[in-house]
Amino acid sequence: MKSDDLHALGLDPERLPVHVAVIMDGNGRWAKKRLLNRVKGHEKGSESVRILVKACRELSIPCLTLYAFSTENWARPPSEVSALMQLLKKFLSSERDEMKKNGIRLNVLGQLEKLPEDVQRAARETMDATGSNTQMTLNLALSYGSRQEITDAAKILAGKVKTGELTVDEICDQVISDHLYTAGIPDPDLVIRTSGEFRLSNFLLWQSAYAELFITPTLWPDFTRSEFIDILTHYQKRDRRFGNVECSMPSDGSPQ
Ligand code: FPP
Repeated sequence: MKSDDLHALGLDPERLPVHVAVIMDGNGRWAKKRLLNRVKGHEKGSESVRILVKACRELSIPCLTLYAFSTENWARPPSEVSALMQLLKKFLSSERDEMKKNGIRLNVLGQLEKLPEDVQRAARETMDATGSNTQMTLNLALSYGSRQEITDAAKILAGKVKTGELTVDEICDQVISDHLYTAGIPDPDLVIRTSGEFRLSNFLLWQSAYAELFITPTLWPDFTRSEFIDILTHYQKRDRRFGNVECSMPSDGSPQ
């Protein structure tokens, strides 16, 4: 989208977030309000996913991470887990061409190997088909848990210290970041949670250290492009100090 078009939407093209992460919550409540099965809420939620991916691409936001299935979600009734897996598979296959066409690269964060074989296959095929795209990265957090991610990183680092590949003194913030599932991905600037809950629910705990948090009461299936733009305008008004004073970015560009 051109600079003028962004200005027309009330957005400053220079202050757009690089990485937006979303906790998509409220599908079940959306369905319950309509006396529908929870799965209907997830189905409608998949449409909101498509709308948001398209909006980020159009607004030139280079990185979007969606919390689609947590490590804790395995405890849901098997019928709901199975319906969610089918929806994910459908999304991964049906959006493949659209993602290819629009320069979007798919990436999965989490324990991909825990997902059913057919979902893993659909994810791998889409990652392969979109791997060379550079306009935008869509990270789907699948069977994702932040504590699991940090535990995995701790084990890898301990192993490297044991073999002498790394010394204890070399372990710093950057080295830990480099061993998370999100290695190479910038930390989120903005974390949005729908449905009015004030929790991070084991999502990007390390990476969100300096993220701006935005909680909306809107249930995920009702989330729209225009609300997203509204959130971005609010985000642009926030004073990001990164633990510093006054200036909105630290002088060396890194969080402190
Ligand atoms: C939380 O709502 C949502 C989930 C656990 C799953 C999110 C999945 C989708 C939006 C659809 C499929 C995803 C993609 C990427 C196509 P909830 O069920 O916890 O809602 P509740 O708190 O109201 O019960």
